[in-house]
Amino acid sequence: MSRYQRSAELFERAQASLAGGVSSNVRALAQPPLYFRSATGTRLVDADENIYLDFTLSQGPMFLGHSPASVLDFVNQAMRAGQLYGAQHELEIELAERFQRIVPCAELVRFCNSGSEAVHAAIRAARAATGRPKVLRFEGHYHGWYDEALVSAAPSLEQAGPREAPSPVLGSDGQLGSSGANIIILPWNDVDLLRTTLRRRGSEVAAVIMEPVMCNNACIPPQPGYLEAARDLCTEHGIVLIFDEVITGFRLDLAGAQGFFGVTPDMATFGKAMANGFPVACLAGKRTLMEPIANLQVNHSGTYNSNVMVTAAAHATISELENLDYQSVYRLGEALMNGLRELAAKAGLSVLAQGFGPVFHLAFTERDSIVDYRDSLENDAQRNREFVGAMLDRGIRLLSRGLWYLSAAHTEADIRRALAAAEDVWSAG
Ligand SMILES: Cc1ncc(COP(=O)(O)O)c(C=O)c1O
Repeated sequence: MSRYQRSAELFERAQASLAGGVSSNVRALAQPPLYFRSATGTRLVDADENIYLDFTLSQGPMFLGHSPASVLDFVNQAMRAGQLYGAQHELEIELAERFQRIVPCAELVRFCNSGSEAVHAAIRAARAATGRPKVLRFEGHYHGWYDEALVSAAPSLEQAGPREAPSPVLGSDGQLGSSGANIIILPWNDVDLLRTTLRRRGSEVAAVIMEPVMCNNACIPPQPGYLEAARDLCTEHGIVLIFDEVITGFRLDLAGAQGFFGVTPDMATFGKAMANGFPVACLAGKRTLMEPIANLQVNHSGTYNSNVMVTAAAHATISELENLDYQSVYRLGEALMNGLRELAAKAGLSVLAQGFGPVFHLAFTERDSIVDYRDSLENDAQRNREFVGAMLDRGIRLLSRGLWYLSAAHTEADIRRALAAAEDVWSAG
């Protein structure tokens, strides 16, 4: 009998009621589809009672580990007084004030429910502030699943065309063809191309949006000077620079990638790690850019925005993070990356572990660096799938796309356990 028998039965049953058996397309990529019963710290238990050491952190949010008592207790206590007022409450002001203290670009903020929503709001606000239509974005960056965001997030090269001037490629059936009409696509990490494109078209561009570390593909760091150059070019052309910090926020540093690299965007979006699994996101920006939202000329709304549960969760999470020794997460993640490199070398495998302690990527490639989306395609996807599956069989849960997330709850013993499993997989051939 398969060790995933019960999950397989539940998945079979789910097909009859849940479209595709899942609630998010991204989850359909994980094979086999698992059903979970509980999660604490770095461990999850599935429907077959298998226990996993988790390096997915549920696509990143669980930076304090699963079920942290401090967050759950605070949420529990806050929600007993009321859950949603359709109006304001004091905790949301305090959360906004925390963002102002911590995040360099956060002169004013608005809260919403997901990263996709925050990106949508950022783009709308940037267009309102500049009166310009175009958004410049980069191949392979993921900014959520909304129509104008899901463009060239993972394009086929046949559709995308030449590297220097890629065509916008839509990511889903049902998107209007016009979804890409106002989107300019470039490869990331190429200052010269950004400079020449903005010289030609800068006056049409409302916003340049990027993940400041390209976490969604191969965890690519910015080339030295790239973020600074993008900052200067946006200032020169009167363009709103948006950092999508849905992954990097509160993970790379308490102050996000903008704090880590010392480059302040005009606007930034946050989600995931800000509330340890509770569905809340934030749009933060310079006062002048947030003004059209503040004076209600730009519509940003939402029934559930700033509800008590998620606001409390963000508070409790961020107050834990304010006391976190981030360096300890970096040390553990780097030990894991180094260990994987050494074990792969011993097994005669070419792998590239790149990124940062709190989030990194393992690629099966001959390359010694990946600097943009097209490089990232040179990853042996089949070998990666086999590795992720073999690790799962050994109780290590990884993301199918090769991204590893570390949490504040991981320990040295967890790292040893993961490395022992990888050694076992690779020594088995
Ligand atoms: C960088 C980035 N932006 C936006 C999003 C969309 O966030 P959500 O899934 O909360 O809508 C994601 C989700 O993974 C992301 O990684």
